Amino acid sequence: MILAVGGGLALVVLGSLVVDFGLAPSWLTGQKAARSTAAADGEGEKAKLFTPPDESAIPDDEFGQSVRRGMAIFLDTGTNAHDFVGNDLSCSNCHLDAGRQAYSAPMWAAYPVYPKYRSKNKMVNTMEDRIKGCFTYSMNAQASPSGGPPPYGSDVYRDLQAYFFWMSKGLPTGEKPEGAGFGKIDKPEKEPSRERGEAVFAANCAVCHGADGQGQKDINGKVVFPPLWGPRSYNWGAGMHKVDAAAAFIKHNMPLSQPGKLSTQEAWDVAAFVDSHPRPKDPRQVGDITVEDGLKKWHHSHDGFYGQTIDGVLLGTGFPQESQAAAPAAGDNSGG
Ligand code: HEC
Ligand code: HEC
Repeated sequence: MILAVGGGLALVVLGSLVVDFGLAPSWLTGQKAARSTAAADGEGEKAKLFTPPDESAIPDDEFGQSVRRGMAIFLDTGTNAHDFVGNDLSCSNCHLDAGRQAYSAPMWAAYPVYPKYRSKNKMVNTMEDRIKGCFTYSMNAQASPSGGPPPYGSDVYRDLQAYFFWMSKGLPTGEKPEGAGFGKIDKPEKEPSRERGEAVFAANCAVCHGADGQGQKDINGKVVFPPLWGPRSYNWGAGMHKVDAAAAFIKHNMPLSQPGKLSTQEAWDVAAFVDSHPRPKDPRQVGDITVEDGLKKWHHSHDGFYGQTIDGVLLGTGFPQESQAAAPAAGDNSGG
């Protein structure tokens, strides 16, 4: 009886089905997730994947305490980095299995290649810059209690980096390991279709994320299935709003516990459906900057629905309750 909030009996039944069939996330059931290598292309690829150390190997010293704090922030960001989170997501909702899962942009694969040059913001990004990007956009920090991401030098960054450093021990620096990022997805045969995507969503996603895409919380208000759009999801500056990024993530990671279930076409179609709904505004869009300006400045060169009118709604305008506080600093175009 865990999913009683907001949805009544139907949710309770669906929720327990999900648990019975082993489809619930590991932190919900208490079971260790099978180290998912299912998204790899074959045995050869699997053999090459790095296995990060087990949580039980975190040392019992001050370093270990920082690692544990970092892990706690990663798993429950809204509680443990409360001031900087403006939606219902946690880092581990997109970087699965506490940032360990290959092809869900795992942290062991990211850590060794930073600092790195990113053409997106045309500068060398430290790991701190990169994490800041995910707070700004994926965690919608503009609507957080502090109105922005953690300031540079914050312990939030130190602890997260301690966790990633610990997790990537043994990997050579400067080399991108197999399993990094969301993995490849082929181009779709047909132009992605929101209409076909809606049917894919109803059949494969709504059971957990809700027919309205708003996810589900337990009776204590803890997010069990995260929202995919709307005011409590990632904003229009986040990497996941790009249809190609979402398609790759979905193909390799969703439905949860059944990666690879969707065909390439289905992954693109459902990504188009998810990413053509309203979500919080791009935090760079402050003051007089209109969606039209935003389209020219930041959104002309990639794959997404920002600036389009869908079902009579201009996408990119955001929601009224969003803070208009501080715009991210110039050059802070790091996505994520
Ligand atoms: C809504 C989904 C989402 C959430 C939530 C999210 N991220 Fe990300 N993150 C992304 C995407 C998309 C990328 C880009 C992946 C790629 O480049 O393939 C990314 C990339 C990253 C990278 C760089 C990975 C690499 O391989 O270079 C780091 C580090 C990172 N995120 C950390 C975090 C942290 C820390 C949090 C929580 C504070 C977080 N993310 C929350 C979607 C998310
Ligand atoms: C069995 C339940 C389940 C099903 C079915 C499922 N998801 Fe998820 N999904 C989750 C959970 C749980 C997470 C967060 C992962 C975590 O915290 O371990 C997630 C995360 C996500 C995220 C990133 C976080 C966010 O809120 O944006 C996206 C995007 C996503 N799912 C899309 C889909 C799509 C599209 C489908 C259908 C093809 C789907 N999911 C099917 C449970 C599910």
